[in-house]
Amino acid sequence: MRYVLVVASVVVLVLFGIMVAKSSYLTEWREYQQEYQSMLPTAPPEEGQVCELAQEFRIKQRQAVVPALKVMDRCVTCHLGMDNPLMDGAKQPFRKHPGDILTSHPVEKFGCTTCHRGQGVATTWRDARGVDVHWDDPLLPTKLIQSSCGACHDAEWLADNGAPLLAKGAALFEEHGCRSCHKLGGLGGTLGPALDNVGLKIPTEFSFTHVTGEHTAWNWLAEHFKDPQGVSPSSDMPPQDFTDEEMDAMLVFLLSQQANHIAPRQYLPDDYFVSRARETNSRPYSGEQLYNMLCQRCHGSGEKGRFDPFFAREMPAIRSQRFLETASEKFIRAQIGQGRPGTIMGAFGSTSSGLSEVEFDRLVAYVKGGVEDHWNELEPPPAGSAVKGKRLYTKHCEECHGKAGVGGSGNQLASRTFLKAATDGFIAESIRTGRPGTKMEPFALSAGGPLSEQEIGHLVAYIRTLSPGGKPK
Ligand code: HEC
Ligand code: HEC
Ligand code: HEC
Ligand code: HEC
Ligand code: HEC
Ligand code: HEC
Repeated sequence: MRYVLVVASVVVLVLFGIMVAKSSYLTEWREYQQEYQSMLPTAPPEEGQVCELAQEFRIKQRQAVVPALKVMDRCVTCHLGMDNPLMDGAKQPFRKHPGDILTSHPVEKFGCTTCHRGQGVATTWRDARGVDVHWDDPLLPTKLIQSSCGACHDAEWLADNGAPLLAKGAALFEEHGCRSCHKLGGLGGTLGPALDNVGLKIPTEFSFTHVTGEHTAWNWLAEHFKDPQGVSPSSDMPPQDFTDEEMDAMLVFLLSQQANHIAPRQYLPDDYFVSRARETNSRPYSGEQLYNMLCQRCHGSGEKGRFDPFFAREMPAIRSQRFLETASEKFIRAQIGQGRPGTIMGAFGSTSSGLSEVEFDRLVAYVKGGVEDHWNELEPPPAGSAVKGKRLYTKHCEECHGKAGVGGSGNQLASRTFLKAATDGFIAESIRTGRPGTKMEPFALSAGGPLSEQEIGHLVAYIRTLSPGGKPK
């Protein structure tokens, strides 16, 4: 019995403590309102002027409720001078809202969190910011507010109408070849996750184990750009060297990716529909556009081989003369369409990358660039011995193509996609004359190299064993 009394009095004490804490919270906004009231004039500064007067001001909670936008914002409980011209230049939270954006987006119709995020119902500044408290949608830093405009407006229209960073971010996204690994609007590679809804991800959907700063989506994204492997160990994403302005633009653009969040129809201005129309009108993309969006990030112009320091490997010269005159169109289509599983060369066929059939044809035609091939005239080498081939391989090839055709800086020869589409003549010719402009040198005696036709035959026999089922039908 005594035990119960002790427990009960502890509970009462705790409840009392909570009440005291709560009431000090309550006074936070009251104090702001009292201070605001003391800043208001008791008579209009000029005769006939309509303005808020101290004696008419009531101390009470204020809020904007907009069910259509699921908004119940008490921000104006503290931000009292939002539309008061006398509060231009006053200290926060009393200062008039910057610019005239509240004229076209009145508080009664839009609230505040529609653009700023943050916890609308909160009546303390800490809870309203929602950063160190448990809240899914913390207040955006001012420089990133432009990310909210894209939910209702067309990104290109916004470039001249209040959100230039959004358009800049969209351009950077294409220039940096992000699409070669990420899908957006259905189009792109598959190495990384699709980004259509990355702007809706809440802090608990990111891992902050290796992030040093604030637990907000934008801080995660910023730290991830600078050091993807530091934030997501074993990530395949190369670090991005952005200037501060580019970083802000990129963050604004990513945070605006909210495909699953569409504002109610009455909130969508005409320009929104322009963007839909533009998207459809620009498809199908040309081969060159697709190459620049999807391939250039890794292959460069494709005319020469290039060593990529991040991936620590060679990127094949897929638009070089020798490759194009010796590879069949079927071979090229298969490599692009199916990729090279086990390497960073992903599949870009229509089912994987979102290209239409027409676009895939255009891309292949652009890569081929009109070069005429004579793959069917390439001589197969004499039949050889895989055992002898293996010895030759270890001596001449392993350094670049890796043990048993895996993991070198050159192409992965232990690849089903490669071996199924490559004829003996094509493999032999790649060895005989090499690929000018790349690290792959000519190996045939006739081209100044060390290997006889028979030895090349042994090598082809060995390479065929590197992947099960690795033979053309
Ligand atoms: C309890 C009062 C209070 C409430 C409620 C409140 N704010 Fe504030 N707000 C402040 C104060 C005080 C500052 C100035 C903070 C500073 O300078 O450190 C501020 C600053 C800001 C700033 C300036 C940028 C920044 O990060 O410092 C923005 C934007 C802002 N508030 C938006 C909002 C929004 C949106 C809401 C509603 C979700 C809101 N505030 C709710 C008191 C409040
Ligand atoms: C239509 C979008 C939109 C709405 C709605 C909106 N804001 Fe803003 N707000 C902005 C933008 C954009 C800026 C930055 C303007 C600039 O930098 O010139 C801003 C700036 C501010 C600032 C100054 C921030 C700073 O760092 O100086 C405060 C405070 C603020 N808003 C509070 C509010 C409050 C409170 C509400 C609701 C009454 C509100 N805003 C509604 C878009 C909006
Ligand atoms: C919830 C949807 C929504 C959001 C978010 C939003 N807007 Fe708007 N905006 C509108 C609507 C609706 C109108 C009114 C259009 C009309 O009157 O035809 C408008 C009007 C405007 C206008 C005036 C257009 C004109 O023709 O006079 C500008 C400029 C503008 N918005 C810029 C912005 C910027 C910048 C942001 C982000 C800070 C933003 N908007 C965020 C829906 C939105
Ligand atoms: C070579 C491929 C590659 C390129 C190029 C690339 N990424 Fe990534 N990205 C990845 C991979 C793989 C991940 C998943 C692992 C991780 O979190 O780092 C990722 C993760 C991300 C994430 C986190 C998404 C989420 O939901 O967790 C974002 C955002 C992102 N990338 C944006 C970009 C942007 C923007 C660019 C262009 C500047 C870009 N990436 C370029 C491969 C790439
Ligand atoms: C993330 C980097 C990356 C992207 C993006 C990429 N590739 Fe590749 N690609 C490679 C690598 C690496 C290889 C060699 C793979 C191997 O080890 O076999 C390769 C191989 C190829 C090959 C076979 C070359 C040969 O020598 O047989 C073709 C053709 C090709 N890519 C075309 C493309 C096209 C077209 C695109 C754009 C749609 C593209 N690639 C996008 C990295 C990439
Ligand atoms: C110095 C590094 C290096 C050495 C040594 C080397 N290769 Fe290569 N090899 C490459 C590179 C890089 C490529 C991709 C060339 C390109 O850009 O198309 C390649 C391409 C090839 C291809 C065409 C693969 C494809 O995906 O189309 C074959 C076959 C090949 N090498 C076989 C060999 C054989 C057999 C040897 C040994 C006799 C050898 N290579 C030695 C670097 C090397």
